[in-house]
Amino acid sequence: MISIFRKKQKWAGKLDLTNLPRHIAIIMDGNGRWATRRGLPRSAGHAAGAENFRTIATHCKDIGVEFLTVYAFSTENWRRPEEEVSAIMGLLEKYLGEALEKMERDRIKMKFFGEIEALPERLYALARRTEEIGARYEGFQVNICINYGGRDEIIRATKSYAEDFAAGEALELSEEQFSSRLFSAGVPEPELLIRPGGEKRLSNFLLWQAAYAELYFSDVLWPDFGTEQLERAISWFQGRNRRFGGVTK
Ligand code: IPE
Ligand code: IPE
Ligand code: MG
Repeated sequence: MISIFRKKQKWAGKLDLTNLPRHIAIIMDGNGRWATRRGLPRSAGHAAGAENFRTIATHCKDIGVEFLTVYAFSTENWRRPEEEVSAIMGLLEKYLGEALEKMERDRIKMKFFGEIEALPERLYALARRTEEIGARYEGFQVNICINYGGRDEIIRATKSYAEDFAAGEALELSEEQFSSRLFSAGVPEPELLIRPGGEKRLSNFLLWQAAYAELYFSDVLWPDFGTEQLERAISWFQGRNRRFGGVTK
């Protein structure tokens, strides 16, 4: 117990570790601009972004965040030039392969949100294997959104509900029922949603789940959004007055 406490102290600067968000969601944006500013190809920005993902995921685990959901590739990102899309898919495969080893060592549970069946075959197989291995673990969970769109997720859930209903199942359509048909079934809603990269929009991310998330926007580009930036976001979150439609206590 004491050693865990010490480890947290070492990492967590001035954060109040008794009031951490259980679930943080991040739109990992700004990789392309990060690279362009350095005269590098956009793919170099995606590689730097993937490295930063590792840093941030590790830090979340170390300080005691329970769930981290990251937006890696949206249903709209297929509109990008083929060369960029295939560079991103290649990087996802590389990092996932490496993450698999670390995950087994650190017992991290990893899940995928999105239509992963549509991904290149090797990446799909890797994602599936990663999920299978992670299913054995309890504890810190990372959800990676690939080929994910909030609207697509809502339509999928609606279709699955309609199918069961048509098959004669007596179903109640409650918020809880509906949530259990989303990719995020069983995962608590994100309390803090972070978007680095300067844009102030959701870009189709967690439309249902983010209904009451605190939204933190930063101009820092994702590859530069390090542990200090993360702690700044969490510290901002800790100062929020969350009312959920009620009044301040
Ligand atoms: C986010 O960075 C990564 C993906 C969307 C795959 P971008 O590639 O969108 O970077 P910018 O926004 O163009 O700088
Ligand atoms: C959102 O970023 C998607 C991901 C980070 C994966 P985009 O760069 O695609 O979003 P827009 O185009 O600026 O809205
Ligand atoms: Mg972008």
